[in-house]
Amino acid sequence: MNELAAQSEPVQTQQTSEKPVARVISIVNQKGGVGKTTSAINLAASLAHLGKKVILIDVDSQGNASSGLGVAKNEVEGTVFDVLVDRAPLAEILQPTPLETLKVAPANSDLLSAELHLGGQEDGKKRLSQAVIDFFAHAPHELHPEFIVIDCPPSLALLTINAILTSDSLLIPVQCEYYALEGLTDIMSSATLLRQSFNPSLSLEGILLTMADRRLNLSHQVETEIRQVYADFVFQNVIYRSVRLSEAPSHGLPILQYDPESSGAKAYLGVAEEIIQNEAKSPRPWPFRAAV
Ligand SMILES: Nc1ncnc2c1ncn2[C@@H]1O[C@H](COP(=O)(O)OP(=O)(O)OP(=O)(O)O)[C@@H](O)[C@H]1O
Ligand SMILES: [Mg+2]
Repeated sequence: MNELAAQSEPVQTQQTSEKPVARVISIVNQKGGVGKTTSAINLAASLAHLGKKVILIDVDSQGNASSGLGVAKNEVEGTVFDVLVDRAPLAEILQPTPLETLKVAPANSDLLSAELHLGGQEDGKKRLSQAVIDFFAHAPHELHPEFIVIDCPPSLALLTINAILTSDSLLIPVQCEYYALEGLTDIMSSATLLRQSFNPSLSLEGILLTMADRRLNLSHQVETEIRQVYADFVFQNVIYRSVRLSEAPSHGLPILQYDPESSGAKAYLGVAEEIIQNEAKSPRPWPFRAAV
């Protein structure tokens, strides 16, 4: 949990404080189709595979993280929308996935009206973080996750702000393409402002290079450029383009189960290992100050 949330944590959660509370990581980029959901599904699954208890919260009305883990998003009783409008606690909407230690809080098109519902409300930005705090206060200890991964929509509007306010860190997937560095500069400056306004203790989990192509010089150039600027903030593991990765969601499976020997499965597992190592370095810094 982030510092802001921890400050308002109810007393009863302190009793469980000998066990570390979850590390909350939001997968954010306002650009569409850069691999946010693919990364959210496969990182959550890889962390679970490595023995961690994980909850994936789907905060995108497209519900792709839910369906990609085999959840029939339009048939479930409750979704993240119900949690945000205080109709259900987080614990009640959790769905099982193909991995025993990974649960998903699903979303569907109901979430389209969330901005409308929450927009005018004073605590509209904090609904998700409050729901997570309540979860740790009231859900049985054995349900407490070690990691929460949040899949965000391609915008920096209210739903993403809810995610940022809940998070310890951001993971930013960047597609290896022309103008990737410019795009990354934009998202980093927006994220720096959001951090300053809403969650000053937020750290940068890392920049993840996605959809790289081993055969293209362009991919190598983009990787070199981004590593020159962001150095250690870029994950060592790179996600290459792979048909297997794009096929897996239609089977409702993470790549680790769809094709465990594939390069995509190994790369996401490698990123999950880097994330676990990052925890030891906590608190992770933030690369920039916001312009004043
Ligand atoms: N490494 C990859 N190789 C091949 N296809 C990929 C890879 N990563 C993602 N894709 C495919 O690219 C498309 C976009 O990916 P994804 O849905 O993960 O992006 P997103 O950032 O979540 O999109 P949105 O902004 O719409 O939520 C999907 O069809 C996905 O299967
Ligand atoms: Mg997505």
